[in-house]
Amino acid sequence: MLTRKDLQELAREKLSDHLLIVVSNREPYIHVFKEGEVKCLRPASGLVTALDPVVKACSGIWVAHGSGNADKTVVDKNSRVVVPPQTNDKKASTYTLKRVWMSKEEEDGYYYGFSNKGLWPLCHTAYTRPLFKHSDWLHYINVNKRFADAVLEEIGGKDAFVFIQDYHFALLPKFLKEKRANLNVAQFWHIPWPNPEAFRICPWKKEILEGLLANDLLGFHLRYFCDNFLETIDREIEARIDRERLSVFRSGKETLIRCYPISVDFEEISSLVTSETVKREAEKFKKEFDLGNKFVLLGLDRMDYTKGIPEKLQALDKLLEKYPEYIGKIVLLQKGTLSRIHIQEYKNLNDEVNTLAEKLNWKYSSDGWSPVILTKKDLSYEEVLALYQLAGACIVSSLQDGMNLVSKEFVSSRRDGDGILILSQFAGASRELEEGALIINPYDIDDFAETIKKAIEMPKTERRQRIKFLRQVVEENNIYKWISEIISDIVTLEDNYI
Ligand code: G6P
Repeated sequence: MLTRKDLQELAREKLSDHLLIVVSNREPYIHVFKEGEVKCLRPASGLVTALDPVVKACSGIWVAHGSGNADKTVVDKNSRVVVPPQTNDKKASTYTLKRVWMSKEEEDGYYYGFSNKGLWPLCHTAYTRPLFKHSDWLHYINVNKRFADAVLEEIGGKDAFVFIQDYHFALLPKFLKEKRANLNVAQFWHIPWPNPEAFRICPWKKEILEGLLANDLLGFHLRYFCDNFLETIDREIEARIDRERLSVFRSGKETLIRCYPISVDFEEISSLVTSETVKREAEKFKKEFDLGNKFVLLGLDRMDYTKGIPEKLQALDKLLEKYPEYIGKIVLLQKGTLSRIHIQEYKNLNDEVNTLAEKLNWKYSSDGWSPVILTKKDLSYEEVLALYQLAGACIVSSLQDGMNLVSKEFVSSRRDGDGILILSQFAGASRELEEGALIINPYDIDDFAETIKKAIEMPKTERRQRIKFLRQVVEENNIYKWISEIISDIVTLEDNYI
């Protein structure tokens, strides 16, 4: 099993003579005004967990959208700030966060518009129609160019590796290479890549593909997404595909296409759950939600139409209808973090989930018991870990998901060797976790309900065997393995330029 220390050594050894630049839309540290002071917060994001130690180890630079309301107050004249905030420990590793600013119109067009109304539904074939607006596309181009300028300004004349994150930056590799052809550029696409039939409706498909092929290395979670990407290239542009090497040659340049399933920090989660804070939070939730001896079905999702939250509620309805003996004995605790709420489809989903939960509670409530507890409160990481401890079963019912880290976090957090994972076959994580989890098709509501029944009634020995297996898988394939493999492949690309 690879550890954070192994990763830091690898990064120092392999990346030391280059400047490492990571680019993402969300920033790893955000400054906000709170109680009259400027506070620096670190979002609980898998991406930050994976990349923060690497950027620290190499004293690299992270370029991201400055979105905190106090972000501008702490940067220098080049929009840079040293993170994490320096403490008395002068030896603690830090790096530079360079912020790129956006006007409301730019954020609206690039982030809410083309990225999240266009590419997000296009790549998650979850039957929400993508919306392609020319004005959004122009903002997307413009913001990608502005990120390219910011990255190039930081690199100056140095040798550098640039590691780009996600679908917000499909054009960035091309803009970088146009100015610095020998720059080493890799990108990880954190969401699914759809089949060519789905992708072909995008009016700017050629530009997107050309942008991505400017990368030296392009990573996806699954081999299935790599294959979809290669098929799409095959259909849409002139290029030679080498299926043995898994690469694409175009205009004399090669792009390696590789799969790296992302993961979580198993060790850290496993040790955090034994902390007093997590135990205290778990007790607090038990009382607050009056959980008593009820079998808790836990849902922890961003409020997104790809997550299958209505389907989860429908399955619960079906279960209680068919097996009324569970009335009063089980509860669905669904946490839904509000997300991208300026987009109409997200507002609609939020209304739909509220209405469904209310309906179910009206239909079945008795003697002070209701089947659904829906909460949208912001939770600390310790609170999230506490919720996992309370779950009889954690339900991940995504209609489509690149990976889904909730499933891997849940497994890592169950140090007590108990708890069941119900997992959608359409979440990337199901490829690794299918043996220990109960796999569902969230569109098949009857079968979904039967699977919940199976979870409630599963004997303890079987539960323990399954979670033991799942924990081994996630422990072995942790976040450090993900990033170490990417770094090892990035450095081999150097040879292309010698
Ligand atoms: C999910 C996706 C990531 C994406 C993130 C963006 O977690 O899997 O690929 O980067 O959402 O979320 P945001 O809140 O920044 O729009």
